[in-house]
Amino acid sequence: SDARTPLIAGNWKMNFDHLQAIAFVQKLAWSLRDARHDFDDVEVAVFPPFTDLRSVQTLVQADKLELKYGGQDVSTHVSGAFTGEISATFLKKLDAEYVIVGHSERRYRHVESDETIAAKAKAARDGGIVPLICVGETAKDLERHEPSAVPANQLRGALIDFKPGDEFVVAYEPVWAIGAGSPATPEQAQNVASVLREVVRQAVGDETAAKTRILYGGSVKSDNIVGFMKCPDVDGVLVGGASLDVDEFSAIARYK
Ligand code: G3P
Repeated sequence: SDARTPLIAGNWKMNFDHLQAIAFVQKLAWSLRDARHDFDDVEVAVFPPFTDLRSVQTLVQADKLELKYGGQDVSTHVSGAFTGEISATFLKKLDAEYVIVGHSERRYRHVESDETIAAKAKAARDGGIVPLICVGETAKDLERHEPSAVPANQLRGALIDFKPGDEFVVAYEPVWAIGAGSPATPEQAQNVASVLREVVRQAVGDETAAKTRILYGGSVKSDNIVGFMKCPDVDGVLVGGASLDVDEFSAIARYK
């Protein structure tokens, strides 16, 4: 919708060390600048591994790049004896804007529960970081439920502590479409996104729901993004594989 600034987000997952991150961000900035990309229209964000964030911050600030960035996960705690964890406070110190919570790779491979994801989303918000909450059904879920059932439940769980005025982003990523090479259809994405917006409405009210961006993720590429961006309830994309190729990610960001 025109009321919401589209967000084009690249989830690097566990790819690119900090030197590769520097090279990538420089090339991306050149590419978008060459195309005289208008950043007022579209927000572009990358989600590098934690070890890259300081380098990305330095580059973005030195060159005044209109590029947002965030972490791929966050601790439910602020500080203390939590070996291996990174808090929202630390991300905020790096001027990170966003953090991904509840990515399917964390839900399923790291067995994170809806409760954990709710606590992470809350920790992000409390630390001044906008959580990008991922939800999505597996192929198995589809055998027993309608497509929106599992994502809607996951979102309801994640928003339990949220109230009107809180900022967060939702990403609908059908697990069967992630890294699959075959995305959902725009129609499928729109159907679930509209149910998710209703869940947001019930959780935080009409006004906040109208401002909340809902992204689609799962095998997004430059040749299929336009279909998703035409959906009234899809306000951007969360890109995995295609976000690792500068030309491809730049083309996705310039979809207009
Ligand atoms: O978080 C984005 C991701 O899960 C989608 O991955 O490779 O299908 O674009 P991909």
